[in-house]
Amino acid sequence: MKGLILAGGLGKRLRPLTHTGPKQLIPIANKPVLHYIVEDIAEAGIVDIGVVVGYTAERINSIKESLGDGSKWGVRITYIEQDAPRGLAHAVWISKGFIGNDDFVVYLGDNILKEGIVRFVEEFEKGRADVSLLISKHQHPEKFGIVEINGDEVIGVEEKPVNPKSDYVITGVYIFQNSVFGYIDGLKPSGRGELELTHVVQKVIESKKHSVVCHKVSGWWDDAGTADDVLRANHVILSDTARNIMGRIETGAVVTGNVELGKNSTIKSGAVVRGPVIIGENCVIGEGAYIGPYTSIGDNTIIENGEIDSCIIMGDSKINLGGKKMVDSLMGRRVTVSCRHSIPKGYKFIVGEDSEISV
Ligand code: DAU
Repeated sequence: MKGLILAGGLGKRLRPLTHTGPKQLIPIANKPVLHYIVEDIAEAGIVDIGVVVGYTAERINSIKESLGDGSKWGVRITYIEQDAPRGLAHAVWISKGFIGNDDFVVYLGDNILKEGIVRFVEEFEKGRADVSLLISKHQHPEKFGIVEINGDEVIGVEEKPVNPKSDYVITGVYIFQNSVFGYIDGLKPSGRGELELTHVVQKVIESKKHSVVCHKVSGWWDDAGTADDVLRANHVILSDTARNIMGRIETGAVVTGNVELGKNSTIKSGAVVRGPVIIGENCVIGEGAYIGPYTSIGDNTIIENGEIDSCIIMGDSKINLGGKKMVDSLMGRRVTVSCRHSIPKGYKFIVGEDSEISV
């Protein structure tokens, strides 16, 4: 069996962060989403993984740099370039040469699953299904591909219906026998102009020649498509962080709960850090700083004077909130937040397109 990760797309709902980089590299607990996915696929015993990437040299190179040839995980990675976001089924179609005659698991590059895919793959290999979908109940099924089921059998699927017939949704992991390529051939674009994988699955169901089954997610999963989703995923992953101090905690600093502190990082005397928190390498948490639970701080970041709670600071940043508090925030790389002492007093913003600020 081969693995196929779809990491193209434009990530519009995560702008401005996705103006400069792909959403699949946004770090959750200081690790890019794509790394969790490669780990899950490798854990299921799959060693050949294709990664669909697009559409600018910058995005493609950043993913290639981040995953490399896969040897870090003991897998072989092949990159497949998509010319434009023409849909999930298009991304699968252009990967035909890479897949060859094998069966394959498709893992959407913005999905994150706590339980991994080992049981899902094992069940597929034991059963005789042609397609298997990983599904989960969701309060807002209209935002996803929905699945009508009868026991383990899938009897209908629909992409983002206005009035969903079921509250079970396709999570973003699918396993296909090679025969699925016959159903992608000749597919027409949907109303949103994309070749939908959901339509392919519906064609398989209607053929009555091949079977479609489902496997329910037992743990937690998230489609990290919006800032809120990303913060929620960070919260869940940090809940399992163990205490691991590789940096220095000065006497007079207060550090409680599960805190991971990277190499060459210092928590200064007077600072307070309450886990679960992860702090990368080469960071300084200054004497007037309070870092509250469910916060991830990337490498090379200095935090001075202020409170930070339930945030992701991606790294290479300098944050001084002048004693104020920041909550539920997502900050890209190379951000400076400084405290303004000069007159006139007031907020001063230099903000790019599609940003969101709540004061
Ligand atoms: O997250 C689960 C949902 O994912 C499913 O319930 C839906 O049935 C499925 O269509 C998909 O919906 P989204 O609208 O969330 O898909 P999105 O456009 O976010 O793309 C998912 C991943 O695939 C993402 O990593 C980008 C990548 N992609 C997307 C397109 C459209 C490609 O690699 N190429 C593409 O052409």
